[in-house]
Amino acid sequence: MAKEKTLFTCTACGGTSPRWLGKCPSCGAWNTLVETVAEAGPGKNRLSAPQYAGLAQAQAVMPLAAIEASDVARTPSGIDELDRVLGGGVVEGGVVLIGGDPGIGKSTLLLQALDALQRLGLPTLYVTGEESGAQVALRSRRLGLDHSQVNVLAEIQLEKILATIEATQPAVAVIDSIQTVYSDQLTSAPGSVAQVRECAAHLTRAAKATGVTIVLVGHVTKEGALAGPRVLEHMVDTVLYFEGDTHSQFRLVRAIKNRFGAVNEIGVFAMTEKGLKGVTNPSAIFLSQHSEPVPGSCVLVTLEGTRPMLVEIQALVDEGGPSPRRLSVGLDRDRLAMLLAVLHRHAGVACMDQDVFVNAVGGVRISEPAADLAVMLAITSSLRGKPLPKGFIAFGEVGLAGEVRPAPRGQERLKEAAKLGFSVAVVPKANAPKKPIEGLTIHAVERVDQAMEVVRGIG
Ligand code: TYD
Ligand code: MG
Repeated sequence: MAKEKTLFTCTACGGTSPRWLGKCPSCGAWNTLVETVAEAGPGKNRLSAPQYAGLAQAQAVMPLAAIEASDVARTPSGIDELDRVLGGGVVEGGVVLIGGDPGIGKSTLLLQALDALQRLGLPTLYVTGEESGAQVALRSRRLGLDHSQVNVLAEIQLEKILATIEATQPAVAVIDSIQTVYSDQLTSAPGSVAQVRECAAHLTRAAKATGVTIVLVGHVTKEGALAGPRVLEHMVDTVLYFEGDTHSQFRLVRAIKNRFGAVNEIGVFAMTEKGLKGVTNPSAIFLSQHSEPVPGSCVLVTLEGTRPMLVEIQALVDEGGPSPRRLSVGLDRDRLAMLLAVLHRHAGVACMDQDVFVNAVGGVRISEPAADLAVMLAITSSLRGKPLPKGFIAFGEVGLAGEVRPAPRGQERLKEAAKLGFSVAVVPKANAPKKPIEGLTIHAVERVDQAMEVVRGIG
């Protein structure tokens, strides 16, 4: 085997250096060198084109139709909300990355999942690098898993972990967390980009070679995504992120990449004394309870994955200083700036000298543009100090020309709102149902100024 040598490679230009340097010697970028392992071969990079071409023979190719395409076999974990985001269950040899803030419930959920799988007769392994075996055992007792047969390994050295997986052949192995794992082959510290990437690559290879499903836990680091789960997203088959406010009881698990299923599916859980419990009917959990309508609040019907959910959007518009602030939690800030411009230009609502804060209740993140209309109505309501009518909902995308565009599957959204007792809706014209929906008065609008007028009329 060729001797492995450490090299530092620039993430910006690909240039290399034998030592770590703050500044890349090739392109001059700062803090871009990360450690990589290079096989030392004599003059390996200096092959001429004909020499290079002689390195390997041409391989056989096959038309797509001739390749057998069997659907992958999935094993449901028995935790319905988790299976939903995984696209039905765990896949043999699949690698899942599960990221989220510290303390959000990653270890709890995975321990519950492993125990459920173990009960189904599948051998499981929980590799813990953050807690001792005793701590994990304590947690399992707390979760009511008193006779759990899940195997635990408290280890952080990659080589030992790989050997143990090889020897014990579990069906599913959890590595909690990938940031604690280190390999002796690299000199950089555990948790560095180089270590995290290299260790994840070895584990991924092991999963493919042995058929073991490997779940990597990754903390989202406070300093941004540098050594966090982001650097691993391209390597793994499935990427799940935990969302939610650690102060609230509810947690969302969102699939943002899935080679074996649909993306943007979400699982909803509630953190209880006995761990995470699936919430099968999550449509109303992101509403705060006002006894009477308050200014600056508008309920949005959003469609997350396959289920409609009602989320309260709150806005606070207040006199700002010389450079007014625009802040959003759970919504895109650039989109907020755009909506404020559209409000001004097409509806005559000016917030130029005002601070504008927007928040999606419950720590949920909303990425669909169908939230636009609700955000604008909440802002206008706060600016005017006038609440929206009781039982009011809205959705619809707003374009730069002030037009209100339809949202996908409008009927389903409206039906869910009616089911939860909402009585007035402002929606895009193309989403207006042909048959009336019982209990719901629907105002269909084409333009944002029209939406403002409708609201003024019914308020
Ligand atoms: P944890 O799974 O340790 O988070 P992570 O692995 O993502 O860092 O979750 C820790 C939090 O969950 C902790 O603040 C306590 C809370 N918790 C409960 O409320 N109920 C429980 O049964 C358990 C095990 C934890
Ligand atoms: Mg943990």
